[in-house]
Formats: sequence, structure tokens, C-alpha cells
Amino acid sequence: MIVLGIETSCDETAAAVVRDGRDILSSVVASQIDIHRRYGGVVPELASRKHLEAIVPVVEEALDNAGITAKDLDALAATQGPGLVGALLVGFSFAKGYAYTLDLPWCGVNHLEAHLNSVFLEPTPPAFPFAALLVSGGHTSIYFVKSHTEFEFMGGTRDDAAGEAFDKVSKMLGLGYPGGPVIGKLSESGDPTRIRFPRPFLDKTEFDFSFSGIKTAVNRYIQTHAATYADEIPHIVSGFQEAVVDVLVFKLIRAAEDRGCGHIAVVGGVAANRRLRDRVIEEAGAKGLSVHIPPIDLCGDNAAMIAAAGYHSLKKGERSHLNSDVYSRHKRA
Ligand code: KG4
Ligand code: ZN
Repeated sequence: MIVLGIETSCDETAAAVVRDGRDILSSVVASQIDIHRRYGGVVPELASRKHLEAIVPVVEEALDNAGITAKDLDALAATQGPGLVGALLVGFSFAKGYAYTLDLPWCGVNHLEAHLNSVFLEPTPPAFPFAALLVSGGHTSIYFVKSHTEFEFMGGTRDDAAGEAFDKVSKMLGLGYPGGPVIGKLSESGDPTRIRFPRPFLDKTEFDFSFSGIKTAVNRYIQTHAATYADEIPHIVSGFQEAVVDVLVFKLIRAAEDRGCGHIAVVGGVAANRRLRDRVIEEAGAKGLSVHIPPIDLCGDNAAMIAAAGYHSLKKGERSHLNSDVYSRHKRA
């Protein structure tokens, strides 16, 4: 089954063609980062307008790159939520109209379930069940994944998402937006042990997270070292990153142990973080767990994961209709 996936939940206009939820025939991502960067974050109204301009050329490019025409498609899938409503509406309405004119089945996809399915686009996907850490700009949660469409929520952040903390710390230090990639890179020249930031909830037995305390601690450090902090930026971001990664890795491994499963996955934009990837591979590997992390280009928002998740829902008979609508808030998987 050849599925066209469409993603417009935030600041990426993306379209992809995927066969049987596994083989990526094409994946096009048009990022709006350069437009939002000057505002220090995503401006929803601007995002919607840019999606409107980009959606048709991005879909055409995805079909061209796959070497197919719309006639070769078997179904469509588009992100339905959660995300920015005005942004979601562009891709979702496009899919609705396109599926109607092509007379094809289509379905709305939950963005988080799509991130969780992104591991199936790598050559050696995990066996079910597995424990998955979903870390992005909007979410930080652990799921026990039982199948392509069954996800048990084990815990999540009580305040900021991990990616949001990277973005906010970057802003505090004047490093720009988005913060994750900049902090990841700068941390390589810093000493992660020089400045120690708190590890919230590390001692708690449940799988919840809290990142606003680490962010506040970084802010306090900047205030109390106003004259000197500028020379210590690599150590500050490295210490911050280490605190976040410590908590993420510890909770993910404990979740797998709690459920007695031998496989773990890390997905979402923050899964692109080198230190997180290395630490998970090293520590989970030492415990005999098999580790699954998508390649960097499938960690951030993309439409291949939407097509993959959509394929499994469509196979189960799920369909969306002309009166289906988007949703902005987390509909818990
Ligand atoms: O999944 P994603 O593209 O969008 C959401 O659904 O939120 O995630 C974006 C988030 C941003 O907060 C960004 O700073 C973070 O992922 N990110 C990173 C890295 N690359 C992107 N965080 C840490 N290290 C990175 N290398
Ligand atoms: Zn995302």
C-alpha cells in the first residue's frame, strides 16, 4: 500500500511517500525556521500562512521524488493533532480535499503516535512490546508500546518539555532558536561536570519529569555569575544538557525494567541530540537492552512517520471523513 503522508502541525511543511509503512520512497521537509528565528520561537499565524504557500509544491515534490503520480497512491494520511490549530488545518484540509478528488481512503494521524512509529522506518525496528521515550519541543513522555496502534502512557512532564528547556536556556544565553542543535554542538567543547544543575525527579519511582527547575537553576547561575558567565557558556550548556540527559536515560531504562521488556526506543526532535543518543546506547546496551533510535532526519518533524502511522491505522480500517476536524491538545494515545 502506497501512502502519501502530510505533516503541518508546527513549523515544518512536510510530505512523504511510504510503501507499507516501512519503505520511504520520498520525504520532503520544508522548514520555516529561518522565518521564526527572528521572533525567538514559532509565530502561529505566520506558520499557517507559510504552510498555505508551501503545501502544494511540497506534495508535488514528494510525488516527483518518489517517481510516481497521484494515480499510484493507495491512501493518504495527515496529522490531525496535537499542534497549532491554524497550522494543522492547512495539511489536514489539503488531505481531505485531495483524497476526495482522488477518491482514495484517508485518515487523520496523532502526531505523537507518528513519532512513536518513526522507529519502524529504520532498518532494524524493535520487537513489541518496547518502552519508548518521546522527547520533542512540545512533549516529554514515556510509553509502553504494545503494537503500531496501542500505546500505554507511563509518565510525562509536569511542566516544560525537554526540547522546550533547551530552547529556553538557549534564549537566556542569547544563542538563538531553536536551542537544541546549538546547545548540542556547543556542549562538545564544555565540561559536563564543571557546573552541576539539579536532576529533578531522579529519586521518584514514577515516570514523570520536570524540567522547569533545571531551567530556573541555569537562570540563577547566570544572574549570580553576571560578570563571568559569558566565558563559561560551553560549560553551562554542557552541564545543563548532562542534567537533562541523566534524567531521560535513567527513567527510560527503568521503564523497560519495570515492564520486563528488552527493547527501548527514543523518538522526537530531541532524539537528534548526540549526547542523549550515545548515553542511551551505552547504558541500555550495558543492561542488554536493544536500542532503537531513528536517523537524525526522522527525529524532527517529518511526513514519513505520518505515512507510516497512517498505514497501520488504515490497515485496521480506520478512516477520516469530510466532517473530521483537527485538535490542538494532546489526545492521549
Ligand atoms: O519533534 P520536533 O521537531 O517538534 C515537536 O514536535 O516539538 O522537536 C523540536 C525540538 C526543539 O525543541 C529543538 O530544540 C529540539 O527538538 N532539538 C534538539 C536537537 N535538535 C532538535 N534538542 C537537543 N539536541 C538536539 N540536537
Ligand atoms: Zn514532533
